[in-house]
Amino acid sequence: MNKRGLFITVEGGEGVGKSTNIAVVVDWLEEQGIAYCKTREPGGTPLAEQIRQLLLAPRDEAMAPMAELLLVFAARSQHIETVIEPALAAGQWVVCDRFTDATYAYQGAGRQLSLEWIAQLENLVQGNLRPDLTLLLDAPLDVGLSRAGQRGDLDRFEQEQRTFFERVRSAYLERAAAEPGRFELVDTNRPLALIADDIRALLAAARAGQ
Ligand code: TMP
Repeated sequence: MNKRGLFITVEGGEGVGKSTNIAVVVDWLEEQGIAYCKTREPGGTPLAEQIRQLLLAPRDEAMAPMAELLLVFAARSQHIETVIEPALAAGQWVVCDRFTDATYAYQGAGRQLSLEWIAQLENLVQGNLRPDLTLLLDAPLDVGLSRAGQRGDLDRFEQEQRTFFERVRSAYLERAAAEPGRFELVDTNRPLALIADDIRALLAAARAGQ
């Protein structure tokens, strides 16, 4: 039987460089010859990608925070069942662009929903599934927001106020401090070559501990 793959999530606020740094992760996995599945949340399956569109599209009707939370977990349930669990069971590493830490940061801190409800949904939907390693990409808010603002049309989250993103960033940093064994904090306000070196070293360490 295959050894179960590692579940790696990449988190961070808007404009912190997730795509660029996920490419670093994927390049390393290719170099090492490790079978992997690269995916994202919300999304990662056809149904979950449709839910993503519902979540991100700006609309006149305000979305109730609880409706948003349940949509996020509906997408996650489908994603885990049809993509994440089968890949891990087959021995592949899963590299996921955002996961439940984003729910604590955006729906918990951002929308100010109960963290206890989120924890209950996390247990219900995920069972024991938790990431093995979470790379938290972090940059000062002004750096991230100006990068994100250069991308053109803003989605429903990107249209939020600065205070929303301040709460999101603080929540991520607090979660990282509370779970140092799972989180690795990566300062992305540095030259890419330095960031990439750090990420490769973190992945090598995760592999050694697998
Ligand atoms: P992305 O643009 O980084 O791909 O993420 C899409 C948006 O979805 C981003 O603004 C954060 C938000 N989001 C949540 O609000 N809760 C979640 O659980 C996840 C995974 C993403």
